[in-house]
Amino acid sequence: MGMMRSRTQVGIVGAGPAGLFLGHLLALEGIDSAIIETRSREHVIERVRAGVLEQGTVDLMNDTGLGERLRREGLRHGGVYLSFLGRRHRIDFEELTGGRAITIYGQNEVVKDLIAARSASGRPLDYGVEDVSVADFEGLRPRIRYRREGQEYEITCDFVAGCDGSHGICRPTIPAARLAVYEREYPFGWLGILARAAPSSQELVYALHERGFALFSMRSPAVTRLYFECAPDEDLGRWTDEAIWDELTARLGTADGWRPNRGEILQKGVTGMRSLVAEPMRHGRLFLAGDAAHIVPPTGAKGLNLAVADVRTLSQALAAYYREGRADLLDGYSDRCLRRVWRAQRFSWWMTSMLHRGAGGSGFDYRRQIAELDYVTSSRAAMTSLAENYVGMALE
Ligand code: APR
Ligand code: PHB
Repeated sequence: MGMMRSRTQVGIVGAGPAGLFLGHLLALEGIDSAIIETRSREHVIERVRAGVLEQGTVDLMNDTGLGERLRREGLRHGGVYLSFLGRRHRIDFEELTGGRAITIYGQNEVVKDLIAARSASGRPLDYGVEDVSVADFEGLRPRIRYRREGQEYEITCDFVAGCDGSHGICRPTIPAARLAVYEREYPFGWLGILARAAPSSQELVYALHERGFALFSMRSPAVTRLYFECAPDEDLGRWTDEAIWDELTARLGTADGWRPNRGEILQKGVTGMRSLVAEPMRHGRLFLAGDAAHIVPPTGAKGLNLAVADVRTLSQALAAYYREGRADLLDGYSDRCLRRVWRAQRFSWWMTSMLHRGAGGSGFDYRRQIAELDYVTSSRAAMTSLAENYVGMALE
């Protein structure tokens, strides 16, 4: 069997939210794409990830025909709670930002909707590919090569979109001398569970407790999502379900008797926390988008929203190129994204450092954090700053 060759306008590496959403936006512009993905369709749909959509992400889904299930099943939240010293304090996003809010809708639901749209479009999406490489992106005809079920493939493209996440091959393929990578690791991780339990709060609760951070979130009226700060290499095997619930109750429970409802634990895992930005987000005809270009700690709930904002910017630039022969938006892609990325990095870092104790956290640090939470929940200026960053910058 020889090499199977094909041709497309935009070759997309990775079928996470970034790659799938880009394929969707390009299809609406009449631009061809081919998407390849190393994992299986089931894996891509089922892996449990974040679940907070900014208003801009919700609006884009609605405007591009992806909003039907989101309008039915998404949970609109007009605020969040910050919890410390045994009390919950509400930050009212709607009131502070002129009516903006967030919507709870799992990333895997977004991915399901995008896969359905891709199938309906009849455009190619190949799962289970291996040995992916990208070449010739410094010239006019970049190529993607891969193997699938023993067959070798080559796709010749006008452009390649590296949407292959934090462990993909696109970022490391760019010559190191042409890419600056700014990185920070945090000395803690999150132990997260998904539980069959009705949420006991209508809105998210971010808590700082002497024992460390905890977060109360949800996926639906019947499913709660919870996390607590742990060691970055925490051994899950050390935690019985009962011990997990006890830890969550200790950190989240408040003096008025509020606590998360318990239920069957459906899934659990440990995630590390990292901040990373690669600059610029483009080399020649290879464009990076989403986690392939930047990683934020989950405390600000920005990862998915940044990925969507990147590919929206990229699809606009590609549309201007194909429609009007303009390259200026492609040339401005990286700068336009990086401004939003660094703003989200700053916010995510700030939320993370306000709410986590870390192994080396001192009594001084804890008292300073409490003072900061006290300020953020009592000064209208400070509350507004949190609210406008949490609901997100409007997409241009
Ligand atoms: N070739 C093809 N696909 C690849 C390769 C490769 N060499 N390497 C990785 N992939 C796939 C992964 O299996 C994954 O499905 O690329 C996809 C990248 O998807 P995500 O990791 O979800 O990243 P992205 O689409 O940028 O979305 C960012 O996802 O990680 C969360 O919190 C993050 O919400 C954010 C969002
Ligand atoms: C989640 O629901 O998974 C979630 C919510 C808020 C965060 C992070 C994760 O900051």
